[in-house]
Amino acid sequence: MTATLPAAAESLLAFWADAGVDAMLLDEPVDRIAAGRVAPPKPPPRPPAPAPVARVLPTAGPDVSTAVAQARALAAAAPDLEALAAAIAGFDGCPLKFEGAASQAVFYRGDPSAPVMVIGEGPGQEEDQRGQPFVGRAGKLLDRMLAAANLTERVFITNTVFWRPPGNRTPTPAEQAVCAPFVERAIALVAPAMLLLVGGASAKAMLRKDEGILSLRGRWHEWRPSDGGPELPAMPTLHPAFLLRQPGAKKRAWSDLLTLTERLDRQARPE
Ligand code: URA
Repeated sequence: MTATLPAAAESLLAFWADAGVDAMLLDEPVDRIAAGRVAPPKPPPRPPAPAPVARVLPTAGPDVSTAVAQARALAAAAPDLEALAAAIAGFDGCPLKFEGAASQAVFYRGDPSAPVMVIGEGPGQEEDQRGQPFVGRAGKLLDRMLAAANLTERVFITNTVFWRPPGNRTPTPAEQAVCAPFVERAIALVAPAMLLLVGGASAKAMLRKDEGILSLRGRWHEWRPSDGGPELPAMPTLHPAFLLRQPGAKKRAWSDLLTLTERLDRQARPE
């Protein structure tokens, strides 16, 4: 019996690894910001431009205001996507950087002047390794859906957080709040005509709503930047990782994409 135990443990571990289980988690995420275990934020490279703050992002308890203020200053100082990517990579205020991320910040892929910005939840293992969002199994399904809707060349793809949450758990509202100034700056630089919010954690954070994705999806919402700038139409839809588990729901995501392309094509048509 004892002799077979290591083999059994090895086989169980291999089974878990195959299933993508590569981290041990507690039932509830540990908030490293609240626990004060995140590296102290570096001072911004130049004096922060005063960023007008019309609304405070909802966060789940911990005080993230220092990290958010630092992210805002860094984001505001980035004149283009390249500078924004460098600012994100050098930012130490998001605890995910020191938890789930094995290698690097994952910022974006796609067309830097795309009319549609796709915003997912957060990078997974493959994204973390390759440094690009949505390149794993869920990303491949997303690509097939975008291609079928004739959107491949018309998207800029990013996430609400730029580092992989450990074990691919959902990013917390605090982690999303800390990364939000960078997402907002990306939206300002890309200037898309509309947003496609992929998954409940993305839709809730971007729209600042506490409804589930099944009630948010399929209808237009307004995304409002925190500085009170112009609003953008936003379409929440189901996450491709969910569709991989529930293929029967694909028709709903397809209908969301058709609603989005119909509006996009209508806006692009000359009067
Ligand atoms: N899921 C997401 O939400 N984003 C990715 O980049 C990959 C998987």
